[in-house]
Amino acid sequence: MTTPLPGHPHLHYQAGALYLEGVRLSDLAQHHGTPLYVYSRAAMLAALAAYQRGFAGRKARICYAMKANSSLAVLQLFAQAGCGFDIVSGGELERVLAAGGDPATVVFSGVGKTRAEMRQALQAGIACFNVESEAELEVLSGVAQALGTRAPISIRVNPNVDAKTHPYISTGLKGNKFGIAHERVLATYRRAAALPGLRVQGIDCHIGSQITEETPYLDAMDRVLDLVDAIEAGGITIEHIDFGGGLGIAYDGETPPPADALWARLLARLDARGYGARPLMIEPGRSLVGNAGVCLTEVLYLKPGEQKNFCIVDAAMNDLPRPMMYEAWHGIVPLADRGGAPQTYDVVGPICESGDWLGRERLLAVQPGDLLAVLSAGAYCSAMGSTYNTRARPAEVLVDGGTAHLIRERETARDIFRAERLVSGA
Ligand code: LLP
Repeated sequence: MTTPLPGHPHLHYQAGALYLEGVRLSDLAQHHGTPLYVYSRAAMLAALAAYQRGFAGRKARICYAMKANSSLAVLQLFAQAGCGFDIVSGGELERVLAAGGDPATVVFSGVGKTRAEMRQALQAGIACFNVESEAELEVLSGVAQALGTRAPISIRVNPNVDAKTHPYISTGLKGNKFGIAHERVLATYRRAAALPGLRVQGIDCHIGSQITEETPYLDAMDRVLDLVDAIEAGGITIEHIDFGGGLGIAYDGETPPPADALWARLLARLDARGYGARPLMIEPGRSLVGNAGVCLTEVLYLKPGEQKNFCIVDAAMNDLPRPMMYEAWHGIVPLADRGGAPQTYDVVGPICESGDWLGRERLLAVQPGDLLAVLSAGAYCSAMGSTYNTRARPAEVLVDGGTAHLIRERETARDIFRAERLVSGA
């Protein structure tokens, strides 16, 4: 008998054991140790397919926002599936190249690009810089001129819409550091068109992450198209429109619209306003990988208390920082159904901080030595991990049907301090 996990079509229990695709997760934990990240290839491709269906017959490029999960094998998978990449650093560009991605499909976002990163991206021949300030325009033009070239640019506009998401991941409001304010956009395009080192290519916006409603997208699209009308009326051609990041995902019963349904609505709006034939770009991250991944962890100790019971596990906030950073909720389920009476626990890691928790007030039937899976851990988990407390980064496995590929070896303490030096003669 197989029982799928609601919201996680590639995870199921079979004979009391949790499987990702055709692989029993406890086998992976035994073989590779814990904490361990495990990703489903089929889940990533299924998430991508929803966008691809949405854009069927359109001129559109899906640039995977690789900050969500930048493991080389994940990038390789998306490159082979036809994606471009949204990068935010020179380091990410190096990863794209190392994974076999095509720099001509890369867009470069971010408010603080350095001159060195601009040179690196120009020399690699990326598709477009998403410029986030008037000062950046001037610098980029100078860097491109010095290289004897012109930098292709979009201006990231701040549409001032409320994405109704966590304040730390909402980006499209006036008080944010991102993008160029609506009222400055026309003047900024005029300046960009006059600068000798730039070639105006498109327009870009991104209103935030973990957005689970369609209204903010429709509002942002209207505002961006109003701007395109005005910019083109001024004689500057906008070749492509980049709508930024993708949808939110279900962590705890949220119901974001499916990507193809959302894009059917957005494309209808685009068609109605006469922009249906314009090349489009989007930069989804979380929705392509978030629910494709789990983090496996072992229960070390149970610590009952007067006010709370603690379930101490071997994964911590350095491995999976979202709960600590955003009070984010991730499902936590056992790898084997052991029966017994469940109790309420705070699931916490070994780090010396009270903020080191993975889940609060969870009903679990567990004993030391049991294995748990933290769900929805494919996006912004491993990628945001650190080595705080000199805790080595977990290994990572990509599952494909019944096959498991090790895609990142477990780090060692020596790897962490390899670049450090003692003071000689001290
Ligand atoms: N494009 C730009 C310019 C972005 O800044 C982002 C995300 C994306 C695309 C991708 O957005 P997505 O499709 O993943 O929603 N660490 C936070 C999320 C930070 C998002 C930052 N920017 C979290 O764990 O929730």
